[in-house]
Amino acid sequence: MRSPIALEEFDASCGDINEVVSLPPATFTSGEFYDFELDAVFGHEWLCIGRATDIPNKGDYFTVDALGEQLLVVRQADGSIRVQSNVCRHRAMKLATGNGNARRFKCDYHSWVYGLDGELQSAPDLNDNPCFVKSEVKLPEIRSEIWENFVFVTFDPDIPPLSGRLSNLSSYLANWGLSELKSASKHEFFPVNCNWKIFGDECYHCAHLHSKSWCPMFDTASERIDYDSLANEPEKGIIAYDLVSLEKDLSPTRTGKNLQPVLPDLTDDQRRLLVYVTVAPNLLLIAMPDKVKYFMWLPTGATTSVFAATWLYPDSTLAKPGFEDEWKMEVEDLKQVMVEDVYAWESVQNGMFSRNAPRGRYAPSEVVLVRLNEWLVDKYRTADARAAADASVPAGV
Ligand code: FES
Repeated sequence: MRSPIALEEFDASCGDINEVVSLPPATFTSGEFYDFELDAVFGHEWLCIGRATDIPNKGDYFTVDALGEQLLVVRQADGSIRVQSNVCRHRAMKLATGNGNARRFKCDYHSWVYGLDGELQSAPDLNDNPCFVKSEVKLPEIRSEIWENFVFVTFDPDIPPLSGRLSNLSSYLANWGLSELKSASKHEFFPVNCNWKIFGDECYHCAHLHSKSWCPMFDTASERIDYDSLANEPEKGIIAYDLVSLEKDLSPTRTGKNLQPVLPDLTDDQRRLLVYVTVAPNLLLIAMPDKVKYFMWLPTGATTSVFAATWLYPDSTLAKPGFEDEWKMEVEDLKQVMVEDVYAWESVQNGMFSRNAPRGRYAPSEVVLVRLNEWLVDKYRTADARAAADASVPAGV
């Protein structure tokens, strides 16, 4: 479909930070624009849906609802990961929920049974039907790729592999050993009443919204923020900045220091960093001296989304006596920050419905949002041009 908002409207949101304004409010509220954006952005891009390290053993699985597609992510007998449809091939019952370990997947409705690889193994009372060919029934596979043990999917068979897009980021984060890190707890999505773009990460708000929560633990006013982090590749939707401290091993905790051992391969310079990297459209990594946090989100409607936050550590840290208590302490320390973020996101969403909703100017530290705008608008233009070309082809050709 063509963009329901004239493309010229987006020009004002791209370019010099001093001159541009935020995206049109309708991009945060309109159901029609949401349908366009689902195809323009999410229909033709790689989406992060979880962590392969959460399912290390044969038969381990987790499920995800990604843009209305029910997905079942399963560790196979050969150690690979298969992302397949979680929809029974009989009458569309969802096969599995949550996460766990299975030897096979049996549909609750009429007991059709599928192997880990999605092949149908049995279907009661259908063996004598000459029109039913069991060997032809299999859960469809969704194109997927593993990057640093994150599971990504795409619904577009033609976009380039993800590995090329993220190869420089892998190099930048090499010393954090991202692929070896494991979750302190499995991700769990929770609902938020806002459009997914409102999650756009920036550090302008930290000193204000989080003045009593984040700042006493990690005062951004005394840090240098490098918006030219070498992790940046905005044209690829990789948008990054580094918080640079004078001291090593600082983290937003009640002590202001890491509660866990420093990752062993970090240089002294890297131990002074918190690296924030958005991998558009739905992953944010925060690499710290002792861990990497990641946030994922998925839209569920024009004005609703789901959001998850998870912490990654090396095996040695996870196995450390007392880890669990210290980790819970750290989660507790940041709980109020999350509460404030959700409060702001949902309030902004309400504001977007106003007939007086603004297209406001950006502060210099919101340059990351302008970079995200530019990546998005490029997607909008591409999708609109594709729809225009399709519309010009005569019916039946
Ligand atoms: Fe699954 Fe009938 S819907 S067996």
